[in-house]
Amino acid sequence: MPPVFNQTVRGMRDFLPQDAKRLRFIEQIARETAELYGYEEVITPAIEYYELLAAKIGEENRKRMYVFEDLGGRKVALRPEFTASIARLVATKLQSAPKPLRLFSVGSLYRYDEPQFGRYREFWQANFELFGSTMPEADAEIISLIDSFLRKIGLRNYCFKIGHVGVLRGIFSQEGIDEEKQNRIMQMLDKKEWEEAIRLMKEAKSSLACLDLLKKLLGTSGSDPASVIKEMREIVDDYPSAIEAVENLNEILDLLKSGGLKTEILIDAGFARGLEYYTGSIFEVYVPEMDIALGGGGRYDRLVELFGGGKVPAVGVAMGMDRISIALEKQGAPTSWGVSERLLVIPVERSMLGEAFKVASMLRENGFSAEIETMGRSVTRALSDADRRGITTVIIGPKEMKEGKVVLRHMIKRKQMTVELDELLEKIKEQTC
Ligand code: HAM
Repeated sequence: MPPVFNQTVRGMRDFLPQDAKRLRFIEQIARETAELYGYEEVITPAIEYYELLAAKIGEENRKRMYVFEDLGGRKVALRPEFTASIARLVATKLQSAPKPLRLFSVGSLYRYDEPQFGRYREFWQANFELFGSTMPEADAEIISLIDSFLRKIGLRNYCFKIGHVGVLRGIFSQEGIDEEKQNRIMQMLDKKEWEEAIRLMKEAKSSLACLDLLKKLLGTSGSDPASVIKEMREIVDDYPSAIEAVENLNEILDLLKSGGLKTEILIDAGFARGLEYYTGSIFEVYVPEMDIALGGGGRYDRLVELFGGGKVPAVGVAMGMDRISIALEKQGAPTSWGVSERLLVIPVERSMLGEAFKVASMLRENGFSAEIETMGRSVTRALSDADRRGITTVIIGPKEMKEGKVVLRHMIKRKQMTVELDELLEKIKEQTC
């Protein structure tokens, strides 16, 4: 047998029932959160033009895209994120939609990353984007939305890391470093390759004072907004657009505090993210059990314009559902998400199969998960299977059926009773509570 028949492609995973259930639970809470905050779902294709997806994704992510030519000769790619597709929508079909426009998406994404803990080639995101506002309240809304989402899921001890790309970019621009070089430096900072970032700055002929200032910024972080902001203000004193960025960050932090956010926030002046479209605040979410981000996002005020949609500022976030799932498991969260009462309906003999189908349908119509014995097993063997799985059984026998009755047998409690069909639903509910 060729080996490709018994394994998945490297980096691709099967989700067995328990894992699939957990992922869908996370999706359900993401959707509920979207509704609570007024974000409407849009569904975009998994395959888009390469140029669209690659435009501002950043060098690291660009190298990892699944790119191919379709049979019509178009250069296309599997989406590595949602943001480019959503910005395309806002630049085209939703161009005249009233702002603010709040959009939600969920689905699988593809990046040819090196498979390792929490890093896959097919992964899932719940994505929230807010278009049309340059105000700090829009950034604060996205952060408080993530907070509500993670709280609802039952995640504990998570914290936010927040920075602002306007601080570093403001300095780089004033130093005359062109955008392409800036992007390369930001990539290095994202990968925490400080030495290489400094080398690139030297190569771009930045002043010694500026190099010194960057080193200071890279060491400026902390959880007390007042003191970190004060320090940042002092460091970037000579760079007006960097000061503006610090003030914007301060406003966002103030709003989060006055809005009652209790979650710990780490403010990091040297924080950068690999995606190139960010223009303002940037943020990520972490839990102490893992050193990879559970989600990340930020402000990107020029992407829609790049796609021909005019000036539409935006801020958004993508939560990594696979990593949230791992974090929940690591924190020992319950594993039986959304399991409703399960029942097995067993006909005593084949002539009772029709009746068994009818009873099972009636149970399902009333919200119970009902399986039918489909293996042709004897009642004893079917019961022992139900016993192993700890599920309640409804036995359909000819004698009882004639009197309009069935036998209800609770496997864990080991209780059995003959009940009127009319009372079956009630009796099941009584037994299970
Ligand atoms: P990102 O930081 O590239 O941002 O991805 C967001 C999250 O997706 C990560 O924090 C992580 O949880 C998850 N993720 C990314 N790559 C992988 C992978 N290979 N395996 C498992 N999980 C992964 C974005 O995608 C931006 N589009 C976020 C955004 C939305 N910015 C503005 N709006």
